[in-house]
Amino acid sequence: MKLNVEQLVQEMTLEEKAGLCSGENFWFTKAVERLGIPGIMVTDGPHGLRKQAKQADHLGLNASVEAVCFPAGCALASSFDRALLQSVGEKLGEEAWSEHVHTLLGPAINIKRSPLCGRNFEYLSEDPYLAGELAASYINGVQSQDVGVSVKHFACNNQERRRMSVSARISQRALHEIYLAAFETAVKKAHPWTMMCSYNRINGVYSCENKWLLDDVLRKEWGFDGIVMTDWGAMNDRCKALEAGLELEMPSSHGERDRKIVEAVQNGTLSMEVLDRAVKRLLLWIEKGLKDRERISYSKEDHHKFAREAAADCAVLLKNEGAVLPLTEGGSVAFIGGFAAAPRYQGGGSSHINSFRVADALSAAEGIPGIRYAKGFDVEGDQYDAALSQEAIRTAESCGAAVIFAGLPEAFESEGFDRTHLDLPECQNRLIAEIAQVQPNTIVVLHNGSAVRMPWADSVKAILELYLAGEASGEAAVDLLFGRKNPSGKIAETFPLRLQDTPCYLDFPGTDEEVVYSEDIYVGYRYYDAREMKVLFPFGHGLSYTTFEVSDLRLSSDKLTGSDPLRVSVTVTNTGDRPGKEVVQLYIAPPHSHTVQRPVKELKGFEKIALMPGESRTVEFVLDRRSFSYYEPRISDWYAESGDYRILAGTSSRDLPLCGTVAVQSDPLPAEITDHTTFGDLMGDPVYREILRPLTEKCGFTSAETDGLDAGTAGMMDAMMDGMPLHSVICFGDISLDEVDAAIEKLKAAR
Ligand code: BGC
Repeated sequence: MKLNVEQLVQEMTLEEKAGLCSGENFWFTKAVERLGIPGIMVTDGPHGLRKQAKQADHLGLNASVEAVCFPAGCALASSFDRALLQSVGEKLGEEAWSEHVHTLLGPAINIKRSPLCGRNFEYLSEDPYLAGELAASYINGVQSQDVGVSVKHFACNNQERRRMSVSARISQRALHEIYLAAFETAVKKAHPWTMMCSYNRINGVYSCENKWLLDDVLRKEWGFDGIVMTDWGAMNDRCKALEAGLELEMPSSHGERDRKIVEAVQNGTLSMEVLDRAVKRLLLWIEKGLKDRERISYSKEDHHKFAREAAADCAVLLKNEGAVLPLTEGGSVAFIGGFAAAPRYQGGGSSHINSFRVADALSAAEGIPGIRYAKGFDVEGDQYDAALSQEAIRTAESCGAAVIFAGLPEAFESEGFDRTHLDLPECQNRLIAEIAQVQPNTIVVLHNGSAVRMPWADSVKAILELYLAGEASGEAAVDLLFGRKNPSGKIAETFPLRLQDTPCYLDFPGTDEEVVYSEDIYVGYRYYDAREMKVLFPFGHGLSYTTFEVSDLRLSSDKLTGSDPLRVSVTVTNTGDRPGKEVVQLYIAPPHSHTVQRPVKELKGFEKIALMPGESRTVEFVLDRRSFSYYEPRISDWYAESGDYRILAGTSSRDLPLCGTVAVQSDPLPAEITDHTTFGDLMGDPVYREILRPLTEKCGFTSAETDGLDAGTAGMMDAMMDGMPLHSVICFGDISLDEVDAAIEKLKAAR
């Protein structure tokens, strides 16, 4: 169905236009029946459909239609698999289409600034490149089904505490390089129909009315051509928001803010052009979902089967000492822990869906002989139960291996609040340690939405991180434990040793008013690497039941000049005896610089490859100039300094055996000439050097003068010159201030 947008805007009354800019109710936009404009439905998201047919809420409290629960964002990201995210998106799109849902409220791609953020389970990663690439695939999947997405929460919603008002104080570099970059990739690579603005403020300005964010960056810089809607209730000043580029307020404000718009247009404080611009964008968005295609119902069975495969592809084998895993079917195995019978597989809040069929590990393992179960602990709360524990210890002791299904209870992490520590319930930690003492083959399977501390990590043989793996979590666990599937996930976040080690430990969650992002660009592995810190498990880590080797790193050139990209190839070989998948990871390590701080290395490419035993494949990565760049606020643009950059390849951020070097050549940045510009700031540029030559010669700090000196003195002289502001030179030679000022004018004119 087509909408004649131009004509509709002519025909709509002021009240109808204002009305279109906010919801009819919780999930629908307003219809304008006399003009044939339908009300359309939006629905959460992100890892399953939460379509509320009856009573609505944004906290996942009231029932929604039955839908398949796919792995949550924390798990999906660990797949490091674009194709998987695309398929999950397609399935979600199919479900949404068949349920008459126009736009799905996801993906949620805020950066995991702290492992404490209560909503990390929905988010993808601490790394913006990974989050952006995976989000783009997911979006392409959903939107291939004629269903839109809403990429959320734009931006800097990195905590739950005071999320509706707190202001993130943050630098331009951290914004562009870390907190906006994933959204940028999503917009540029997948053209989402909508974006959802966050509740919070950024540097004092509410996201809903942040013209810089919604117009300058999102539309003008990135080319976004959809609509922006608020998070539920994230509206402040309605007219300012319209001017900034926020089209849709959700849910309904019961006509109150529509009236504000009408009044503002009538009294001339809001122009009709601004309102019309919003209305046109809204109509174009509505039209996108009005395809004349049949609403065939999808097979929940098939989607469940897919969810099982997906969950297994997302799981991360963190440790597997002595190849204790996979277990052999038929050997005696103790399944311990309440999560074996009732897995925690999704998070609390607006993403909480009414799952089609939850599969627990115990039932999934029914056909396998030799399994004995002991509950050990309750999945809710933190109560050490001596009788349950004793029974669990005895059961574990009596078997050849013990698998403890541990994890965070619902009450420990959710939308709405942040965690205050990284610990599992103490009753679980204690029981794991006790079982590990009596059972040498102890395996821990984890159900959690974000990194946890593992005080028992050294004393257990294997750790399998399932995350919140969706409704087929238990089946996937059994598939992996018994080797029917081979783990291939990699953690998309660092697991620190302790909370005190985390980058924003001193500034999370901030004060009531403000949270200062004082760690700046040093988020996740960027921080741990810069400080050369030990971590529990590094970003990108994950094992397999087979082994892989990476070799033959080749670069298409040893130079990066102009806008030609660099092609990098790496060969990966399955050197073990099982089919498996490996994720080849590519990082760029910039040269040391005096002018800008850069992370030690940053992820700039990854590829997941399936290989049979003995099979090799060569993967290729394309690195453009942006891959080497940082965001330079002085020019409001991306910039790569000249120098030798190392290209590192391997299978985890801390296992990068391959290294190549490429010389990047860039035009120097135009120097800013100020009172404190030093000789060192300018002498690297031949044009500036020539202008400064009369001064440097007169004050005797030329290399010709220092030639006869010993190396120490010459070095000292050079260093002094390097740090000397231009005006200070008058004290060291027969030089007048006028001469210096004249040189400064020439310098300014030179670029
Ligand atoms: C959440 C959004 C969600 C919306 C609608 C809000 O509380 O922050 O992610 O899409 O509710 O349920």
